[in-house]
Amino acid sequence: MVESGPAVLVLAAGKGVRMHSRIVPKVLQELCGVPLLEYVLEAARAVRPSTTVVVVGFESEKVRERFKDRGLTWAVQEEQLGTAHAARAGLTALPQWEGDVLILNGDLPHLRGETLGALVEKHRGSGADVTILTCEKSDPTGYGRIVRDGEGRAVAVVEERDATEAEKRIREVNAGAYVFRAPVLRDVVERIRADNAQNEYYIPDGFRLVAEAGGRAETCPLTDESEIEQVTDRLDLARSAARIYRENAREHMRSGVTIVIPEATLIDKNVRIGPDSVILPFCVIESGVTIGAGCKVGPFTHLRAGTVLEDGSEVGNFTEVKATRLGRKSKAKHLSYLGNGIIGAEVNVGAGTIFANYDGKKKETTVVEEGAFLGSGSILVAP
Ligand code: UD1
Repeated sequence: MVESGPAVLVLAAGKGVRMHSRIVPKVLQELCGVPLLEYVLEAARAVRPSTTVVVVGFESEKVRERFKDRGLTWAVQEEQLGTAHAARAGLTALPQWEGDVLILNGDLPHLRGETLGALVEKHRGSGADVTILTCEKSDPTGYGRIVRDGEGRAVAVVEERDATEAEKRIREVNAGAYVFRAPVLRDVVERIRADNAQNEYYIPDGFRLVAEAGGRAETCPLTDESEIEQVTDRLDLARSAARIYRENAREHMRSGVTIVIPEATLIDKNVRIGPDSVILPFCVIESGVTIGAGCKVGPFTHLRAGTVLEDGSEVGNFTEVKATRLGRKSKAKHLSYLGNGIIGAEVNVGAGTIFANYDGKKKETTVVEEGAFLGSGSILVAP
């Protein structure tokens, strides 16, 4: 574990051209119930950042709004002229900082905290000026390649578009995570030129500048290539989601939850489920749901944010629950909509019960007291 951590600089200003969105910046694209950016921020917590600066640009207000009250510092990159240009914008938020700066791309959802911890440790242990996280990819297409000299020392990163055929065959890639000593970073971002195929300022060029000047440019090789999967388009997004859903289900099963068919169950990030609960197939359980112990959910149930199922409760076929607390041992087994409600213990919600508590402007709360028995086909109008 890192003692007192580096400043973290997350590059999140890109529009994400290949997402083809007119309204949502790439880092706000939802991945298993939370924005893409959330994953990198969570991984970064492992290095105990002294500060976390997020560089935003395209639709920056939306990103700030989504991540407000999180203790983040914001820097704006008005025009997106490349990753080094973004890092330079980020540095304006760290005028006094003399320690290490961990720079992270905002689009790497599978990067683990332990990996970043190891990167920072390696950088500190070796006294390097810059340390770059690298990884052998079986398919390196699209990534910057690590160029090594005759003695095996990494000397540069070459982007796909600038690479020769020989360089394209290199499988060691730049993962998109770097640690720089702050004074070195300040120096290189001023010197990086946009003389490449995209006419952009590339932060990996900082690595080359350090190496050329005889500084200490180190690499930190990562063995698990599956951690490095950048999300550039909606196909990547779907691929990442499938993987995260699978991992989430496994984690819940390991802690005592029965998931009858994990492949047919979508459990978002930030869902809590107690032991001995059973999740039947075809359920969508969204971020921000809490399910107690010994509950039964599904088949075909949609649980949305703010829902709490207390111990021993059951929600079944074609029932949607949103921002509602269902009390201990209560049941809502068939064809219901329960939204903005508080339902006491041992309540029976009959088939086809609807909470009607929204007048188009304001949502009221529907309260059902302990032990109540709601007959089938009831519409409860609140207030
Ligand atoms: C980058 C690296 C590449 C590496 C790969 C790993 C560069 C030039 N290349 O390529 O070597 O293998 O990551 O995933 O850095 N961004 C900004 N402002 C900008 C441009 C980008 O904030 O002006 C942000 C993006 O929002 C994104 C990150 O930087 O989160 C990466 O940018 P992107 O342009 O996608 O670089 P890659 O092509 O992925």
